[in-house]
Amino acid sequence: PGRARGGGERTFVAVKPDGVQRRLVGELVGRFERKGLTLVGMKLVQASEELLREHYVALRHQPFYSQLVKYMSSGPVVAMVWQGLDAVKTVRAMIGETNPADSRPGTIRGDFCTDISKNVIHGSDSVESAQQEISLWFRPEELICWEDTAEHWIY
Ligand code: PPS
Repeated sequence: PGRARGGGERTFVAVKPDGVQRRLVGELVGRFERKGLTLVGMKLVQASEELLREHYVALRHQPFYSQLVKYMSSGPVVAMVWQGLDAVKTVRAMIGETNPADSRPGTIRGDFCTDISKNVIHGSDSVESAQQEISLWFRPEELICWEDTAEHWIY
């Protein structure tokens, strides 16, 4: 009783290939954990160009679209689903602006990058795109509502 159960919305987050190569995965996962969000899915994925073309389909007319797909398929990404109160907006605030130069220190992009085309991390921009992205990257059985079922091992 009184313990927060696994409620709230879900958002899709991916540590991009530059973030994985720069060994930032632990730092970034730690930030979301310390914020109080709940990790419900996570895997290291070598994404195909086909998956990435679908992931970024809304950007297909942008001049940087094919460069973005190539970059995102250039190495593994860490795909994650985080859950919690206002998870979509909260994660976006923690990530910062699309262009690292516009991102304040204290945000992920403000702290870890300078180049808009290598900006370390992706987070869904709305609840609707979160739902689409989660179903594109994860099978239902890969998402685990462990807070509802697990023993609690914090004394
Ligand atoms: S956002 O964050 O979706 O509101 O911003 P948007 O400007 O629409 O950008 C969408 C994604 O495109 C990437 N992007 C770029 N990549 C390479 N070069 C340039 N110039 C560029 N501009 C935007 C941006 O990082 C967003 O990727 P994700 O993975 O969604 O963060």
